Amino acid sequence: MNAFLRAVVRLGLNRHQVPVLGIRDGYRGLVRAARQVNADTDGLVRLKQEIERNIGNRGLIDAQQNIIQMDHASVSGIMGKGGTILGSARCLDFHKPEVRREVIDLLGKLGVGSLIISGGDGSLTGARLLAEESNLRIIGVPATIDNDLQFTEMSLGVDTAVHTLVWAVDHFIDTARSHRRVMVLETMGRESGDLARMAALASGAEMVITPESGALTESRMRGLAEKIEGAMTRGRGHAIVLIAEGVKFEPEQKRNGAYILRDAFQAYFQRAGAPFPDLEVRPSVLGHLQRGGHATPGDCILAARFAEEAWKSLLDSNGKNGITALRYNKVEIVPFGCPDLPERSIHSRAMDALHDDLANW
Ligand code: F6P
Repeated sequence: MNAFLRAVVRLGLNRHQVPVLGIRDGYRGLVRAARQVNADTDGLVRLKQEIERNIGNRGLIDAQQNIIQMDHASVSGIMGKGGTILGSARCLDFHKPEVRREVIDLLGKLGVGSLIISGGDGSLTGARLLAEESNLRIIGVPATIDNDLQFTEMSLGVDTAVHTLVWAVDHFIDTARSHRRVMVLETMGRESGDLARMAALASGAEMVITPESGALTESRMRGLAEKIEGAMTRGRGHAIVLIAEGVKFEPEQKRNGAYILRDAFQAYFQRAGAPFPDLEVRPSVLGHLQRGGHATPGDCILAARFAEEAWKSLLDSNGKNGITALRYNKVEIVPFGCPDLPERSIHSRAMDALHDDLANW
């Protein structure tokens, strides 16, 4: 996100000579600014004058600093830094049309004509609603480690999260190998298995379980345990199993998948007469580790390409509102509500098959 912000600011100022404002904490910052300004009409006049006077210079625009005038230096040194210097927040208030109206009014009064909004499904839904309810030019930019936005091949953050997971597997594998254990690692991804599947392919994890392959029943878990035991019989000493957080269980269970799978595997390995009763299974839920850290070059490059396309579209008088997307390795703008890339699910199945053949259980 920081690499993306840097690219938006620098292209706006250097290539297009357009002033750029940064909004703190996403929609929450916009709502706070709208409320603050409503309560202080003089403040609004000052705010507008500040923007006009400050073009290209750094400045704090409103008293609470929800809106910041960005300059060249304001995005210096942030390229690969994890997180976002502007902050991010979930904003339930923004679901209300009357709250969005306050924000649209504020932007109108400030003379803001365009918004670039980056985030996951929630942020892009907000972007679509703003586009429908106002005359603003709006470009959404997909940024989510879940890679669950099916109209683009990749979202910002995915490459970095996969990189972190590969690093994590490399660390877990040391214990798995030396203690001859099965390690079950739970990845993020909400309802999507993309993160787990890409991480498995890139790390060589022995097994990957994703929501797309259906709910895990007791018999399916037994089947997986049998597979591992079979590999142990053929001389394999350890296994790394990745399970995506979105995997469902039948009957439904409330605990983390990694723990449910550990219990099922452990019970199977310790059944009466089992060949490897000492085979231990250890679960780990990797959590927010996956959402931080230095962005990969792949992510920084995609961020720059998305930013360039966003500006191109905003400055084109025939440009349409929509979302930057990577399709067939080209960046383009797709309209809000654009149908999924049909290849996405085919691609996911192909990746699963490729992983299975490489793991060769
Ligand atoms: O959507 C990104 C994501 O990291 C998901 O993978 C995860 O389920 C969720 O957000 C975690 O959200 P929070 O940080 O609010 O717990």
